[in-house]
Amino acid sequence: MNNSPIVVVGSANLDFVVKTRHLPAPGETVTDGEFSQVFGGKGANSAVAAARAGARVAFVGGVGDDELGRQVHHNLTARGVDAGHLLTLPGVASGTALIMVDDAGENCIAVAPGANRQLTAQHIRDCQTTLADAAMIMLQMEVSPAANREALRIAAAYSRPTMLNYAPFRRDAVEIDDKITWLVVNELEAAELTNCSVSHPEEALSAAKKMVGLGPAWAIVTLGRAGVVAASRESELRIEAFPVQAIDTTAAGDTFCGALAAALQRREEMAQALRFACAAAALATTRMGAQPSIPDRAAIECLLNGSDRV
Ligand code: RIB
Repeated sequence: MNNSPIVVVGSANLDFVVKTRHLPAPGETVTDGEFSQVFGGKGANSAVAAARAGARVAFVGGVGDDELGRQVHHNLTARGVDAGHLLTLPGVASGTALIMVDDAGENCIAVAPGANRQLTAQHIRDCQTTLADAAMIMLQMEVSPAANREALRIAAAYSRPTMLNYAPFRRDAVEIDDKITWLVVNELEAAELTNCSVSHPEEALSAAKKMVGLGPAWAIVTLGRAGVVAASRESELRIEAFPVQAIDTTAAGDTFCGALAAALQRREEMAQALRFACAAAALATTRMGAQPSIPDRAAIECLLNGSDRV
């Protein structure tokens, strides 16, 4: 196994969560909810997921010079993620997300990216030594496009593998090409990127093949309860989802990516790594909140091995 860390370039948020009976319609007030404040952000969630799945992880991101930023820094460190490149950016707020989750586990999320979006290409260049030594560089779409493009440029210059989770979708923010080793999207993002309908696994596989045609070594489409499909130039895979009682899907995709990265870093075959990631994502939906829901490697392996001790 490569002993270099997985380096996540991404967002870190404080999530303010209200669990309600149903999601409010525009103009409606839904009362009697339960409030919680948890750590989130797609980048930080993926970093914590990779660390809990057994990988060495370093994080590159930005927070504001405020109490939330200090909490984010402390939390990442406490969860075993190297936060030495979590930059404190003056004059901006730390990232926050307002999340509502209903009784069926569906959510809606509004993000105020704050410092996450202020991360510049120069900030990324300042971390070049760390990126050049990464076992893998993981990216999502909650930092500035310039920061993501610079991380991909450095990855290509030093032949580092990359995993881009194209979430949340932003048109033309990052070019899909061969600087991306593993492109991970859900069905909505796959539809946006390919201009094709992606409503069942066969269509998702066609979309994955189309995306591989743009340059990534692998395109992976997550389909929730319908599992995952993946394509490379030589192979096609379909992995079933693990049936669980979902109560909150927040961060399931981030957990999938972090666990997949950890498994790939251990040199697991793609099919085995995808199963590991599917199990991790399934477990994440059985608990409330983003980072509090992320399972560790032992729990993931229990589910994989058919044990109910999760
Ligand atoms: O993917 C879930 C995450 O999206 C939440 O933790 C929230 O912070 C938003 O970034």
